[in-house]
Amino acid sequence: MDVSTMLCVGFFLLQMFMLPLSISSELVTLEQSLGNLSAFPPNFLFGTASSAYQYEGGFMSDGKGLNNWDVYSHKPGNMIADGSNGDIAVDHYHRYLEDIDLMHSLGVNSYRFSISWARILPKGRFGKINEAGINFYNKLIDALLLKGIKPLVTLTHVDFPQELEDRYGSWLSPESQEDFAYFADICFKSFGDRVKYWVTFNEPDFQVKFAYRTGIFPPSRCSWPFGNCTYGDSETEPFIAAHNIILAHIAAVHIYRTKYQETQGGSVGIVLHCFWFEPISNSLADKLAAERARSFTMKWFLDPIIFGRYPPEMQNILGSILPEFSTTEKEKLKKGLDFIGVNHYTSYYVKDCMFSVCEPGTGTSKTEGFWGQSSQKNGIPIGELTDLAWQNVYPQGMEKIVTYLKETYHNIPMIITENGYGEVSKANSTTEEFLYDVKRVEYLAGYLDQLSTAIRKGADVRGYFVWSLLDNFEWNLGYTVRFGLHHVDYKTLKRTPKSSATWYKKFISEHGQAKDQKPGHVQNRPYCY
Ligand SMILES: *[C@@H]1O[C@H](CO)[C@@H](O)[C@H](O)[C@H]1NC(C)=O
Ligand SMILES: *[C@@H]1O[C@H](CO)[C@@H](O)[C@H](O)[C@H]1NC(C)=O
Ligand SMILES: *[C@@H]1O[C@H](CO)[C@@H](O)[C@H](O)[C@H]1NC(C)=O
Repeated sequence: MDVSTMLCVGFFLLQMFMLPLSISSELVTLEQSLGNLSAFPPNFLFGTASSAYQYEGGFMSDGKGLNNWDVYSHKPGNMIADGSNGDIAVDHYHRYLEDIDLMHSLGVNSYRFSISWARILPKGRFGKINEAGINFYNKLIDALLLKGIKPLVTLTHVDFPQELEDRYGSWLSPESQEDFAYFADICFKSFGDRVKYWVTFNEPDFQVKFAYRTGIFPPSRCSWPFGNCTYGDSETEPFIAAHNIILAHIAAVHIYRTKYQETQGGSVGIVLHCFWFEPISNSLADKLAAERARSFTMKWFLDPIIFGRYPPEMQNILGSILPEFSTTEKEKLKKGLDFIGVNHYTSYYVKDCMFSVCEPGTGTSKTEGFWGQSSQKNGIPIGELTDLAWQNVYPQGMEKIVTYLKETYHNIPMIITENGYGEVSKANSTTEEFLYDVKRVEYLAGYLDQLSTAIRKGADVRGYFVWSLLDNFEWNLGYTVRFGLHHVDYKTLKRTPKSSATWYKKFISEHGQAKDQKPGHVQNRPYCY
């Protein structure tokens, strides 16, 4: 009998003896003490998340090569709101020790960051390894571990060496699979003795949408009416890029499993952007539309990687537009991850656009799956609206998305790799306003509460990361939107904790690190598909 079983049996006996005494009052006590038990299992990861291009700066430092975002952000006419770039970002490259101190004072036990591919391989597999790049991540990882903070490392978070774009069109070419596998192997070999959580890609569902359907990310490829680009085909290229990313993921996982996993003992997953899609009515058509919305976004990647095939809805609608996996690829793909990384921020109502006519908009076209999204139903918002047009506050979405993934993918372990609240910098905004971030605290508290409900109901969730430790470069929004638990003054790069930092610290001290381990806890289970 293992410890968790013993604890469960012990708890059961305790209940047996307690109940007959005075059923009503003991039940209240039991309920109270249960209510006080942390829902978060032992070794649960509480952390903050970041990514290389959004944080590091140091864009020409120590032999780093140019990546796609360096080139894009310097190109006139790009779509970055404030004309800014990530050349300096929050200068994490030089200030990582200070940032680790901030993490340590929050009491987090983990940190999610990504590796700048061009820092390690300035020219991809067509050039040498940049040892200075390897050294930077070695120092970062060692400094984290010294403070008891476990690294969760994303191999590529949207950025990659420009060389790969120039040589063969990056993700549109199957050659990208080979480059990614080569890079992944170097990272596992260099850092895997200390890194136990790996993510291959961050939000490839969004990456291919922005890069190849709407064209607002490099390489700015799209076709009208999806966007206004010089080159591209919004109705075919996203599927080709996604196909190569899926196969690149599985190539890296295969390398990890055959060369490293046994000795290094870590796990590898992929992160998807996961909105919750709520059918706008009880009609079958709207329910099917919500399912199509999931299929054409997160399940586009998860279904192949877990089941070895694209979602049936995608196959039916897209036919020959959707690339095919060979029999060998299908076999290799199945069970092709150890955990699902969930980036969850907000929810939408979804309506059918297959049998009803919809105004053109996100999701409505055939190649997006014939659905339409809205934050409102009959003029009533799904949740409190925020500064950001795309974000509304619907904490129930957290329980719903986690439960949906649990049921769809047989409770494969999940990690909430991002969740956070954005505030827009206005011309007259003051630092003080940002520091007193009551709305962010309310948001995080609500979403964590719903996450704990999902866990109590049996979802195997292993970690939670706030986006983000610091305000940072938010892609097309530049520095106009702030997601940090710490405010960054972009003139001086001074970091100042916001109310949310104080709140998160308290939350972790009350709920984290197996503080209050009592019988009846959800124990970490072995992976089971
Ligand atoms: C549970 O928490 C409540 C208030 O949050 C407190 O009054 C009560 O004493 C706690 N019970 C136990 C068993 O710790
Ligand atoms: C598309 O982009 C070009 C060049 O940037 C611009 O001149 C044109 O007005 C744009 N068209 C639309 C419809 O936005
Ligand atoms: C700040 O400017 C916005 C418009 O940009 C305005 O609506 C708001 O009232 C201003 N706030 C203050 C405190 O002046």
